Amino acid sequence: MSDIIQQLEDRRAAARLGGGQRRVDAQHSKGKLTARERLEVLLDEGSFEEFDMFVTHKCQDFGMDKEHIPGDGVVTGWGTINGRMVYVFSQDFTVYGGSLSATHAKKICKVQEMAMRNGAPIIGLSDSGGARIQEGVASLAGYTSVFQNNIKASGVIPQISVIMGPSAGGAVYSPALTDFVFMVRDSSYMFLTGPDVVKTVTNEVVTAEELGGAKTHTTKSSVADGSFENDMEALMEVRRLFDFLPLNNTSKPPVRPFFDGHMRKEPSLNTIIPDNANTPYDMKELVLKLADENDFYEIQENFAKNILTGFIRLEGSTVGVVANQPMVLAGCLDINASRKAARFVRFCDAFEIPLLTLVDVPGFLPGTAQEYGGVIKHGAKLLYAFGEATVPRVTVITRKAYGGAYCVMSPKHLGGDVNYAWPTAEIAVMGAKGAVEILHRTDLGDAEKIAALTEDYEDRFANPFVAAENGFIDEVIMPQNTRMRVARAFASLKSKDIKNLWRKHDNLPL
Ligand code: HXC
Repeated sequence: MSDIIQQLEDRRAAARLGGGQRRVDAQHSKGKLTARERLEVLLDEGSFEEFDMFVTHKCQDFGMDKEHIPGDGVVTGWGTINGRMVYVFSQDFTVYGGSLSATHAKKICKVQEMAMRNGAPIIGLSDSGGARIQEGVASLAGYTSVFQNNIKASGVIPQISVIMGPSAGGAVYSPALTDFVFMVRDSSYMFLTGPDVVKTVTNEVVTAEELGGAKTHTTKSSVADGSFENDMEALMEVRRLFDFLPLNNTSKPPVRPFFDGHMRKEPSLNTIIPDNANTPYDMKELVLKLADENDFYEIQENFAKNILTGFIRLEGSTVGVVANQPMVLAGCLDINASRKAARFVRFCDAFEIPLLTLVDVPGFLPGTAQEYGGVIKHGAKLLYAFGEATVPRVTVITRKAYGGAYCVMSPKHLGGDVNYAWPTAEIAVMGAKGAVEILHRTDLGDAEKIAALTEDYEDRFANPFVAAENGFIDEVIMPQNTRMRVARAFASLKSKDIKNLWRKHDNLPL
């Protein structure tokens, strides 16, 4: 008996060594953790239950039949994060460069399917040279099965990808199908075709970092939702995000203890709006002042900075925040802001996370670049996302809410449940200057008359009261009481239960 137990221990030790000490050292020398070390950081201590530790590849070609490394380049199983269950897979670069074989894919599919069956999120840590070259089409079939499972799981369980090394070729599509993608700066990259192919086909000279590094994907392409300094920081921040999320689409997000009373007043908010309507202020300050313990987990912080998206807690419960940012492009909506916010709203709605919308928007950004780029279709994505969202929704207009952008930013007629405005709100078809220039074109030469007409228009519309008189705004609130009013509004919506009409699926303007 003791011999048999020793045999098990030996086999486990061999599996844990992955591709061997030389390759583990090489991984460390790049400042990267190994697949197993990463799971130790990500999961609660001692909580990891491994599956398929002894699985080996079945390839007979290119001498592969002579070498079998147990685990086949991916560590899979489940564990807990702050006591809540999560399925995981972590690619092991020390084993054939973490490349994906048919058996490697089967291991990932197994945990994906268990995650769906058991209603727990899945987190994938990618560090892979892509398709296992020796296996050819079997590897492609494996990838496709992983993609199919990503699609089945979408909107059912949260899926998070962390790119911690190479992710090239079609392999990038598994992360792209998940809810959140994070990258590690300077040690991860994602692209469909690498710099050499790019040079051959387009004659462009570009480095791997420029083509698909963390900076590119968090500022230009928006493929990634955030990036971190190193493996440790990335994994700790994913743990922090995980705490905001529900386990699946039928369970509520966790309610955490909070040490920040909802009656907290913020007198500084009474003066946050500058006297001059064209002077910006930092909407992030408002978000932080509303949040429990000023904690805001921002998503896509460095992309489309004219809109903020992310999670806060109010009285311990997760709330998704969408907020125009007057500091960038005066808070205008544009193509990128609409895409970014629409995706975030849809995630929140899929997972029953209530939405708080903070509005200060002078309109959609004008110009040929926007029109040629399809701002009509992209703006419609955000309109659509809010319009179909059935989760509790509270909207606060702090200053401008003009034109089409007013209609998009979760107003009453788009299903907003509780719509508040600050006394500084200006709800109108457009700004006073633009309105007067159109209505009184013939008087444009008379500066005095135009000034008087502009003042008239401002008096009539540069306030929240016309909207409030019509019931489009439920209440004009004191800025300092916003946290209390919003928290009470969400509390009143706890049992909200509405459903959209049955359909096979929607047809949002992709
Ligand atoms: C098999 C691979 C491999 C692969 C790397 N290795 N990629 N083995 N299949 N795809 C092995 C190497 O032979 C090496 O083995 C070890 O992993 C580490 O690789 P190195 O090259 O020494 O590491 P590094 O210098 O860090 O370079 C990493 C790399 C490079 C940039 C990822 O290995 C690389 O370019 N690999 C090929 C990438 C690729 O073209 N993949 C296919 C993409 S197409 P030893 O024994 O020396 O340790 C694709 C299609 C998917 O993925 C389609 C899905 C639908």
